[in-house]
Amino acid sequence: MMMMMMHGARRGLSVVARHMRQQQQGGTRSLPVRLHPQTAQLAQQQGRWNRLSPWTVAVMQQSGLQERSVGKFVAFGIIYTLGVLGGLLVYQTINAKDVTDQERRETWETIANSYDKDIHDSERSTGVLKQRQQLLQQHAAGHVLEVAAGTARNLPFYPPAVSQLTLCDQSQAMIDEARAIVQDFDTQHPHHTIAYHTVETGAASSDNVHDAGSREQPEANIAVDFLTGGTEALPFPANTFDTVVDTFGLCSFDDPVTALREMLRVCKPGGKVLLLEHGTSHWLPPVSLYLSWRARCHAARWGCWWDRDIRAIVDDATRQYEQGGCDASTDANASAAPSPQPRVRVEKAASFHLGTGYAYVLHKQR
Ligand SMILES: C[S@@+](CC[C@H](N)C(=O)[O-])C[C@H]1O[C@@H](n2cnc3c(N)ncnc32)[C@H](O)[C@@H]1O
Repeated sequence: MMMMMMHGARRGLSVVARHMRQQQQGGTRSLPVRLHPQTAQLAQQQGRWNRLSPWTVAVMQQSGLQERSVGKFVAFGIIYTLGVLGGLLVYQTINAKDVTDQERRETWETIANSYDKDIHDSERSTGVLKQRQQLLQQHAAGHVLEVAAGTARNLPFYPPAVSQLTLCDQSQAMIDEARAIVQDFDTQHPHHTIAYHTVETGAASSDNVHDAGSREQPEANIAVDFLTGGTEALPFPANTFDTVVDTFGLCSFDDPVTALREMLRVCKPGGKVLLLEHGTSHWLPPVSLYLSWRARCHAARWGCWWDRDIRAIVDDATRQYEQGGCDASTDANASAAPSPQPRVRVEKAASFHLGTGYAYVLHKQR
């Protein structure tokens, strides 16, 4: 088979070479090769001598293909490709196994130490790093709580207006990674305008500022403390933080509506909840179909549901919060009858990546 293909290719090439020689010598532009009789007859009937390139003729001759067969060949290719894709779709749909919340939690523990490396390049090339920067530089200030903080990927983007940072995540492995990254940040980013130092949870921001060494004088040296725990029941009183940040957490929480209500609860009146998320697309139905189809595979690999309806989650959580539904909180008032809470104004709601990326700024009114 291989020999036949090589022989055919050699003959085709020599035909073309002869044709080019003829052209250089001012030869005719008519067909340079002896065609398969059926091909020649067809081409003659249709008066297409000059429209067939020598390459096409060579390939047609070697394969015994007639011009009208090309259409059939292309049609076969399309049907074949659709068949393969359809088969894959059915296979995936039948075989994708369910992923439990417990399995997703275990995924975070497993991927914590490779998470940064695995996603950094794709975040840079798809503009996600820019999105992080824009959101945090413009809106983060004061004492910031970052939930589902993962490996502290937002550290490079906090502005000097931030005075203290509390990083919280359900996964102990993620918190361990985050702590190591914070401790190493100044060494890795000696020219960055912000320095970070770690403090015990709940300590004042001036405690334990480490020696900046040979590092350039930073504009701010932000104290960072850590907490391992779920966002759905934050162990803070209401109205504690100036800013609450969640990047790519709503796709990961077991109960995203309760988690967002909690973020609103612990945010001070006048403060902001900043969200950068991914989820289903309201722009392009085929994209959301694809996300839903691949959702279980994605959840098994990355621990998150990338087809959640982020817009609906934000709407439900803000409405429930305003109506006073804060039953999941550890706030002392939680067991009392629901009382209306401050209103939440959506200061910014942007989407990107064909509608699968979301950036929100929620402003808790005074
Ligand atoms: C997609 S990662 C996002 C990490 C980080 N925020 C970022 O922007 O790269 C999701 C994170 O949510 C954490 N997580 C999942 N469920 C959680 C929960 N109920 N409460 C707090 N963190 C949770 C996971 O451990 C993981 O670190």
